[in-house]
Amino acid sequence: MPSPSISAPGVRQKTFSFRCIGCGDVTESAQQDFRCAQCRDLLEIVYPAWRDQKPGAEELKSAWLTRRLSSKLEDRSGVWRFRELLPPVESEQIITLHEGNTPLYELPRCARATGVPKLFAKHQGMNPTGSFKDAGMTVAATFARRAGFKWVACASTGNTSASMAAYAARGGMRSLVLVPEGKISWSKLSQALDYGAVTCQLRTDFDGCLRLLQELVLRAPVYQLNSINPFRLEGQKTLALELLEQMEWNPPDHIIVPGGNLGNSSAMGKALVEMRDLGLISGLPKLSVIQAEGANALVRTLRETGGTKLINVSPETRATAIRIGNPASWKKAAHVIEATGGACEQVSEIEIAQAKAEIGAEGIGCEPASAVTLAGLKRLVELGFVKPNETVVLVLTGNLLKDPDYTIEFHRGELLAEGDGARSLASLRHAPIVLDGTLDAVMRTLERSEKS
Ligand code: F0G
Repeated sequence: MPSPSISAPGVRQKTFSFRCIGCGDVTESAQQDFRCAQCRDLLEIVYPAWRDQKPGAEELKSAWLTRRLSSKLEDRSGVWRFRELLPPVESEQIITLHEGNTPLYELPRCARATGVPKLFAKHQGMNPTGSFKDAGMTVAATFARRAGFKWVACASTGNTSASMAAYAARGGMRSLVLVPEGKISWSKLSQALDYGAVTCQLRTDFDGCLRLLQELVLRAPVYQLNSINPFRLEGQKTLALELLEQMEWNPPDHIIVPGGNLGNSSAMGKALVEMRDLGLISGLPKLSVIQAEGANALVRTLRETGGTKLINVSPETRATAIRIGNPASWKKAAHVIEATGGACEQVSEIEIAQAKAEIGAEGIGCEPASAVTLAGLKRLVELGFVKPNETVVLVLTGNLLKDPDYTIEFHRGELLAEGDGARSLASLRHAPIVLDGTLDAVMRTLERSEKS
């Protein structure tokens, strides 16, 4: 028997095109704002060669698996390992921090609490800069440098900026970060600073930062790295590829993701549809998007307009990563929810705090925006949309350490105003205990804790 090839001969992309999601116009190049020159809608990347010669599913699976034993840089990346489904690039041009390769965990306690025994978490917070953004950033930063840009830029609620700054630094590019002043966590801001970004705290919200960026990139030779950039979404697709590989290509019934600017749900949905069309999976999991009640633009858009017109909201939530009122990729997300038969729900601040503590109690931990997935699952079970015998994967998008203030305030009982149901969460709190530095004091605490 011939040994499996790690190059998957005959399936490497030769080229790709940009297609407008609005008017369908196909072009070979894109303007700096990554919008359609005809109708201004967003672009997506397509692979015309698949029409004539589809990559073989079994050949792909075997090449991807074999690469896990390879020591080549592009094979050790959990993103570029799947390069047949990405825009082509020479391996020496890749900017990588060994992103991807994130764990899929079982959540036994949350499974019991929700009544869904087959419950898993795909933890994208285990990426190099602590969030799912790295999977998209390795691809988009690579194409920025390849196109000859010296500067990259993004608007961010914190994670995109941390990731962009890191990949720019690795790739020898300068980076410009636009963040809403006072509305992102210090941990995320500190990452951008350390990686050398020019960091501007603007007196506006995320949506204001993104609007400004879109104008800036048309005036200055700066490459924009928000998820409007379709190269970002191609990289983020690999989250779904890696997940399905970990599940031995048996699709779960449900995948649940948080929704902010809606790039990640769009990327996951694109990946699922491509995998189905290429014969890598036999059916589509339902992809559901969960938002915070205070930042529920997509929920309202689907409920009130049937997905035909975006309803902007003035966003407010302590899950600052998804504090977004005018999500750029709403049409793409609405499309993938429809294509996969998913749902779109909202959850309250209390539900988010509770879900975050419950995930933490599994010894895993995530940031508040990620915890909307568990809170959303509870809602979907109540609604009968998720059945107890179904397999569910929650996508945890960011690491617990991304927003320690939130966690500490929660455990000290300072996060939520009294009276809004916060007291019911008391059993989940573990506030730090200040004691005299004596053995006696520690022994007494141990005994008391043993009884509680
Ligand atoms: N979870 C986390 C931890 C995030 O940082 C984000 C978005 C989301 C979920 C939502 O993903 O925007 O693709 O729907 N963060 C962006 C940022 C906006 O700038 O870091 P989305």
